[in-house]
Amino acid sequence: MKYCSLVVLFLCGVRYCNAIHWLGLTVNGSSVGWNQTHHCKLLDGLVPDQLQLCRRNLEMMHSIVHAAKVTKTTCQKTFSDMRWNCSSIEDAPFFTPDLAKGTRESAVVFALAAAAVSHSIARSCASGDLPGCSCGPAPAEQPGPDFRWGGCGDNLRYGLQMGAAFVDAPMKNSRSGSQAAKLMNLHNNAVGRQVLIDSMETKCKCHGVSGSCSVKTCWKGLQDMHDIAAELKSKYLAATKVIHRHVGTRKQLVPKEMDVRPVRDTELVYLVSSPDYCTRNEKQGSYGTQDRQCNKTSNGSDSCNLMCCGRGYNAYTEKVAERCQCKYHWCCYVTCKKCERTVERYVCK
Ligand SMILES: *[C@@H]1O[C@H](CO)[C@@H](O)[C@H](O)[C@H]1NC(C)=O
Ligand SMILES: *[C@@H]1O[C@H](CO)[C@@H](O)[C@H](O)[C@H]1NC(C)=O
Ligand SMILES: *[C@@H]1O[C@H](CO)[C@@H](O)[C@H](O)[C@H]1NC(C)=O
Ligand SMILES: *[C@@H]1O[C@H](CO)[C@@H](O)[C@H](O)[C@H]1NC(C)=O
Ligand SMILES: *[C@@H]1O[C@H](CO)[C@@H](O)[C@H](O)[C@H]1NC(C)=O
Repeated sequence: MKYCSLVVLFLCGVRYCNAIHWLGLTVNGSSVGWNQTHHCKLLDGLVPDQLQLCRRNLEMMHSIVHAAKVTKTTCQKTFSDMRWNCSSIEDAPFFTPDLAKGTRESAVVFALAAAAVSHSIARSCASGDLPGCSCGPAPAEQPGPDFRWGGCGDNLRYGLQMGAAFVDAPMKNSRSGSQAAKLMNLHNNAVGRQVLIDSMETKCKCHGVSGSCSVKTCWKGLQDMHDIAAELKSKYLAATKVIHRHVGTRKQLVPKEMDVRPVRDTELVYLVSSPDYCTRNEKQGSYGTQDRQCNKTSNGSDSCNLMCCGRGYNAYTEKVAERCQCKYHWCCYVTCKKCERTVERYVCK
């Protein structure tokens, strides 16, 4: 027993213990059938409650593996124009300090992952892939004058319930990790799910004589994960630094600068300030921006000035091959020529 906890401590020391350890399912998760309970042991970072959820809901694991992949790709795409570009999520289930400490970056990744899991489960319900759920219930609100409720909506309720049970488990029933970090992670997970809830929108399909749309059926569906990630990115930029301190008799997270107000349900929170990610510093989980591409005409975060932190940039030209002068031939193929175009590229010094 003593030996075991020593091993756990040791592993935590080498950035192994993390509440988003399950993102490592991207490594082996797809090659598994998820039809035998011993498959749940594949990733030894699942906490006991997650293991139990897995054993009881094996089919759901496909949705969770999918969510882990979506978390990775959407995070990288959403942050590709920033100094911190979510590249370290690639190392899951191992995490560098940018994601292993209570930073702003880990806040947004937790929120994104929480949203992705519930999103994925809610969608799987609607597509009939899960035995425990089906389409979401018909909305209680009256349909508009020009449509009726129909089709199959995403089952948000089931997605939220099962998703929260899975992603919140590491914070709920474990003795490792600080109380402050657990509160931070739980809060940010809830923010991710709230953004998901707010993304629910009415989607419609037309019927009737060739596009006349005389009959319209509508249902409630979730927005794409890219839209949800974009919303979370703006929350990341406006995230609030918090401290863990006594408020009355209980210890809570409160904004550091303005600790008279409680933390809002809509804001991402973090405990540890991040480096500026300008220079390489492995101890801080910063890769630096040397050799990163920047955009000379942009004045956003991918501008050469901001991306290169004022160090300047090198320009080089690159030839890119493109299909051009495409012609459509009756019937049915397209021929194109290949054109070469020279483009200027800029990379940070
Ligand atoms: C599990 O799934 C795999 C592939 O999907 C299949 O080959 C195997 O027979 C299944 N095993 C059981 C016990 O159903
Ligand atoms: C993936 O599978 C390999 C071989 O089965 C195993 O050695 C490795 O630890 C697994 N990786 C993860 C992240 O579970
Ligand atoms: C993200 O940043 C890393 C480290 O600076 C870099 O190697 C990688 O190419 C970047 N990825 C993208 C898509 O820009
Ligand atoms: C650079 O930024 C400008 C303005 O935001 C944009 O129109 C252009 O597509 C960007 N170029 C590249 C290569 O991303
Ligand atoms: C660039 O900055 C100018 C003024 O500083 C602003 O009007 C413009 O909208 C900005 N463009 C972009 C693409 O952010």
